[in-house]
Amino acid sequence: MIDGCGRTIDYLRLSVTELCNLRCVYCMPPEGICKRRHAEICSLEELEELAAACVELGVRKLRLTGGEPLVRKGILTLVERLAALPGLEELTMTTNGTLLPELAAPLRAAGLDRLNVSLDTLDPARYRALTRGGELDRVLAGLAAAEAAGFSDLRLNAVLLRGVNEGELGALARLAREHPWSVRFIERMPIGPAAGLGFLPASRVLEAVPELREQEAERGERGGGVARLYAAPGWAGTVGLITPMSCDFCGACSRIRITADGKLKLCLHSPEEIPLRGLRGAALRETVLAAVRRKPARHRLESAPSQSKRIMYEIGG
Ligand code: 5AD
Ligand code: SF4
Repeated sequence: MIDGCGRTIDYLRLSVTELCNLRCVYCMPPEGICKRRHAEICSLEELEELAAACVELGVRKLRLTGGEPLVRKGILTLVERLAALPGLEELTMTTNGTLLPELAAPLRAAGLDRLNVSLDTLDPARYRALTRGGELDRVLAGLAAAEAAGFSDLRLNAVLLRGVNEGELGALARLAREHPWSVRFIERMPIGPAAGLGFLPASRVLEAVPELREQEAERGERGGGVARLYAAPGWAGTVGLITPMSCDFCGACSRIRITADGKLKLCLHSPEEIPLRGLRGAALRETVLAAVRRKPARHRLESAPSQSKRIMYEIGG
């Protein structure tokens, strides 16, 4: 699919649930979320149909998000079905990792290609505070389980938070010295509760780990990989910097999103949502195609907060 700005759209982020077993302070409001009625959330069959239509239209990379995708009942069946879609080149998932000790091996067997695991701190108490109750040990066990299951190129995502993990940037980055992982630091975007948290520019990672040197553009990443990659001599992995705020990458954006209740979002920060539920076949494909032509050229985060009507757990990042 080509949008109105000439960008190739071949990457779909599909949210499979709004629910999560954590309550990260930058993602969920303190009072918790108002659960959508079960009937508002797409069934597994509907999710598969939506994904299949997008793949027919040219999507080559599909990422499952949430909420926490691993709390969705039937997630393994969905992964298995999606992995079998003809034309799909890469099936990935973003997870908080807490359920990977049990699910890493079955996910691999179901055909998942790659995992991104969210990890913002290596301090158990800070992790508990940041996630409002999460156990860091679960995530660390989850990472080990993922490696054992054959997920060799794990990506870790850390949101940069001033006054929170600011003193740990070196320790987090150096996970990539010992492990063949890509440790990616993401500038916090002013969306939902995150808007009230302190911003830290990604350049602080380079100050914390001066031996890092920029590498060539991300290989194997289709249509505008968003991380700038760094490494140092002798390191097993890489460090990635994702800078939606200080250096926006809208010009190379290749993504669309579908929410768990079946709304197409053309841009993370735009209020526009196109309901897809109930559409099938040619009508579904034509609706997606027509919408993609109207994908916004860029966000305006430098001058205004996100215009999205939803916050992260409702979109899937
Ligand atoms: N800014 C940047 N990243 C965020 N994430 C959640 N909220 C924000 C935000 N406001 C990240 C999570 C996870 C992924 C789904 O998105 O940490 O890695
Ligand atoms: Fe759950 Fe991810 Fe939101 Fe944390 S950031 S509450 S892990 S959906």
